[in-house]
Amino acid sequence: MKAYLLAGWLAGLATLGSVLGQECETHTVRNTIPASRKVALQSYSYCGGDLNVTVYVANVNFNKVVNLYYTNRQNESTPLSVVSLNYQSSIGSDGNWEYWGANTPVYVDGITELLNLTYQATDIGQTYHQVLDIEISGKPEPSLPEPPAPYASPKGFGNDITKFLAVSEGSEAEIAFRKMFVNINPAIEGAEKGIVVAARSGPSYPQKIPDYEYNWVRDESLTMDVVQMLYAAATKKKARSQYEKILFQYAAARATEQTDPDLQTGLGEPKFYLNNTIFTGPWGRPQNDGPATAAITLMEFGNDYLANGGSIQTIKQQIYDSTNNPDQAPVQKDLLFVARNWTYSSFDLWEEESSDHFYTRMVQRRALVMGSEFAEKMDDSSTASTLSSAADALTDTLSQFWDPNRQILLYEYGPVLKDKSSYLDTAVILGVIHGYAGDGVYGYTNDQVQATALRIATSFIDVYPIANDTKGASGKILGIPVGRYPEDVYNGTGTEQNGGNPWYLCTAAFAQYMYASSAEYTTASSIAVTSISKPFWDYFAPQAKLQTGQTYKSGSKQFRQAINSLNGWGDAFMRTVKYYTPADGGLAEEIDRDSGKPVGAADLTWSYASVLTAAFARAGAKGEEGYVGNIADLGVRANT
Ligand SMILES: *[C@@H]1O[C@H](CO)[C@@H](O)[C@H](O)[C@H]1NC(C)=O
Ligand SMILES: *[C@@H]1O[C@H](CO)[C@@H](O)[C@H](O)[C@H]1NC(C)=O
Ligand SMILES: *[C@@H]1O[C@H](CO)[C@@H](O)[C@H](O)[C@H]1NC(C)=O
Ligand SMILES: *[C@@H]1O[C@H](CO)[C@@H](O)[C@H](O)[C@H]1NC(C)=O
Ligand SMILES: *[C@@H]1O[C@H](CO)[C@@H](O)[C@H](O)[C@H]1NC(C)=O
Ligand SMILES: *[C@@H]1O[C@H](CO)[C@@H](O)[C@H](O)[C@H]1NC(C)=O
Ligand SMILES: *[C@@H]1O[C@H](CO)[C@@H](O)[C@H](O)[C@H]1NC(C)=O
Repeated sequence: MKAYLLAGWLAGLATLGSVLGQECETHTVRNTIPASRKVALQSYSYCGGDLNVTVYVANVNFNKVVNLYYTNRQNESTPLSVVSLNYQSSIGSDGNWEYWGANTPVYVDGITELLNLTYQATDIGQTYHQVLDIEISGKPEPSLPEPPAPYASPKGFGNDITKFLAVSEGSEAEIAFRKMFVNINPAIEGAEKGIVVAARSGPSYPQKIPDYEYNWVRDESLTMDVVQMLYAAATKKKARSQYEKILFQYAAARATEQTDPDLQTGLGEPKFYLNNTIFTGPWGRPQNDGPATAAITLMEFGNDYLANGGSIQTIKQQIYDSTNNPDQAPVQKDLLFVARNWTYSSFDLWEEESSDHFYTRMVQRRALVMGSEFAEKMDDSSTASTLSSAADALTDTLSQFWDPNRQILLYEYGPVLKDKSSYLDTAVILGVIHGYAGDGVYGYTNDQVQATALRIATSFIDVYPIANDTKGASGKILGIPVGRYPEDVYNGTGTEQNGGNPWYLCTAAFAQYMYASSAEYTTASSIAVTSISKPFWDYFAPQAKLQTGQTYKSGSKQFRQAINSLNGWGDAFMRTVKYYTPADGGLAEEIDRDSGKPVGAADLTWSYASVLTAAFARAGAKGEEGYVGNIADLGVRANT
């Protein structure tokens, strides 16, 4: 009876809500082209957290940036209380005026006043504005929704995944290892040594589109980081010397990139041809994560080389000392670039948005922290101190990324761009994976990172139809298929509405995140739960019933249950990768959101690298010490 009454009451409320929804009033400020200004508000509405604005913009040049500034629910104006407007249509036939606008959830941030419109005509160096000072009333924004209830609670490591990642001929780990090396020093005429082709998709391959037949600085460095891990773990001399040779080739290739005469934006240039000359066509540049991840990989290599009795002279000449060996040793130059340029906005790892990105800051921070120690080792204390002060200054900015209203780390600190109004992006998790410096600053088990991981992963459940398949062939639990961000429209070759797909590397990143968290807790021997991390545990380890404010020691039942759940979810995410991997073990870029078929670039090198690093993290969580070495000892076959 009670339930019935409650349901009736809720239904009544819903009706009331839709009546209020219909009352969402559009305020028309003007409906003629302005005579005496270049930008002017035409109309706006703000209801239930959704802002809809239309603006007149004079077509005085091609490249336009039009922003609407407002104050949030706390009456504050911050770098986040801005909406970046998009072109909508041309007005009339003379092409002199355009409509620009946005129709976007502002969501929990709220709006109390529209402050002004700012229009930068970047080609002609002019900025126009209109002061608005319009107080907003309308149905207020909703509060932050609760995360969904978990659809499953996987526990422990699965034999199917152990087999999938076994060190044996024909396992996915073995296939990923082989296929990754096919893309390193690829057998394509004119390809330079030390480069990585991003995928087997482009003019030289059976699959022509998309054209990924380039050497991207990011993909190259992240792939070479796997080679570096193999180098460090190999026990067979022959395999080890193969990796060593490739890594020295990589260092030289990076120096070639740095000294290309046609760099447009310095060392943040993202993309090179396979002959390692710069790609100068239009592109999102600079991308300032590349110099950082390149330096990290080569410093890791240098440290291992030295730890195994290698000569410091060799490392100075071929890895570090760019001042005296500019054509050979790239690391010092990349590190100084990071130290001097980290405050500037740049394009993100998806090459779409120029802003201040959490991912980029994290990898830059790790490069600087590692770099100051490495420079000391190289007897370069002046560079060491430059790097360590930059690291401190950068670290002080990281707290900006935490948004207490949304309970997430924002993937970028700035206005909503490209309609990514959720501010959720797997880039944050990749930032921890590639950028955690091992010093307690935004590590895997940081409560803000955990809260963010929960929101990102669950954001895809209602977006991808294949997320409804929650069980694999043998009835085992599948993890959530994970993409770049919920608003993504890139389908692997072009953009279309609802085009975004789950990506192999993003799903593998969540597996890796779970395994690495498990290992971090096991090392720490305790789990401390905060109000920020509580929802993460409620979703990913409901049986453990962890409570805010409590600390669970490694001997306790709750600790064991929680670790078991992290391992179980790690395997569940990896099982999703497995479920959508075709019989030949090849990994494309994406998984079609409707059919589950591979789509986009074929044999994406980063997909293979991500499965391998997740497998290494799994071995770490399982305490299988010899695993990486056993993979490494497989050795590289000649590329054909
Ligand atoms: C947004 O505003 C424009 C202009 O008033 C209107 O045409 C459009 O229908 C509105 N969109 C929504 C979703 O309310
Ligand atoms: C914001 O400003 C409005 C109008 O001045 C005021 O009524 C409201 O209390 C303020 N809100 C906060 C959170 O200060
Ligand atoms: C518009 O508002 C922003 C945020 O308050 C402010 O920084 C900027 O100076 C304003 N521009 C104009 C022209 O008033
Ligand atoms: C490198 O490759 C690109 C693309 O194939 C070509 O346009 C360019 O001329 C080559 N540069 C050199 C120096 O060979
Ligand atoms: C970026 O760093 C380089 C040094 O590596 C420096 O020459 C350049 O001026 C810096 N760029 C800016 C915009 O400061
Ligand atoms: C999953 O299935 C339910 C029930 O059939 C459906 O309502 C929902 O839209 C599906 N989810 C997606 C993302 O398609
Ligand atoms: C992706 O979008 C493009 C349009 O940009 C379209 O031509 C193509 O067919 C789409 N690909 C798939 C696999 O749907």
